[in-house]
Amino acid sequence: MMLGYAVFLVAIILVACPSHSTTAHGNFFDAIKGCLQFDDVPGYNDTQMYFATDKFRNVGRTHNSRYIRLGVVGDNDGHIRFGRSPYPYDETVVEIVLGGWWNTQSVFRQQVRKRDHSFDNVLLKEASTPRVMSRSRPLVFQMEVFDNGRIQLTKDGERRPFLEYGGNHQTIPMDYIAFTKWDVPMIYFYDCPLLNEDGGSNDDDTVLLRCSLA
Ligand SMILES: *[C@@H]1O[C@H](CO)[C@@H](O)[C@H](O)[C@H]1NC(C)=O
Repeated sequence: MMLGYAVFLVAIILVACPSHSTTAHGNFFDAIKGCLQFDDVPGYNDTQMYFATDKFRNVGRTHNSRYIRLGVVGDNDGHIRFGRSPYPYDETVVEIVLGGWWNTQSVFRQQVRKRDHSFDNVLLKEASTPRVMSRSRPLVFQMEVFDNGRIQLTKDGERRPFLEYGGNHQTIPMDYIAFTKWDVPMIYFYDCPLLNEDGGSNDDDTVLLRCSLA
């Protein structure tokens, strides 16, 4: 009787999850499940769309930092800007370039832009990040900004940041964030579900729930 029930249950799972073998293999885009998508990405010198991070569903907090999870897809030159206002003219924002210089280097900068879109960039830090960007595999990471200005970008499944900036006295908060590009199309994923300590999603979904949603 018990055995019969077990067989029946397995049969149900097999029927309800016909694509189970495919999900076991997975695909790189599984990582951006639950994120919001931004693909109408303005050019580097165009008017930017700044999102208020306090409207995000997924913001992590510690006693001295805030963090969000993001993804980006594109061949090279992902650009993230953040600062304290939605229209940051004549005020300083942080700009992070991911996989610039033919996908070899990433940098942190401070930028001040005028209303005519002329700008001043000050390099804060550069780092070697060979092939960090890809058009077929989203770069998905947590970005943590500390009260003292420290910034850390850590890839899913890794403990150490792949990009970090030590902070200085001039702290720029991540109140508003914008996504731009340089020479190639870009898709951003933002407000992504945060990962728990084991690197899993915080969504409490089981195999059965996954199946019934599929
Ligand atoms: C943005 O403007 C600067 C300065 O005018 C220019 O050198 C640069 O090529 C522009 N970037 C793009 C992607 O158009």
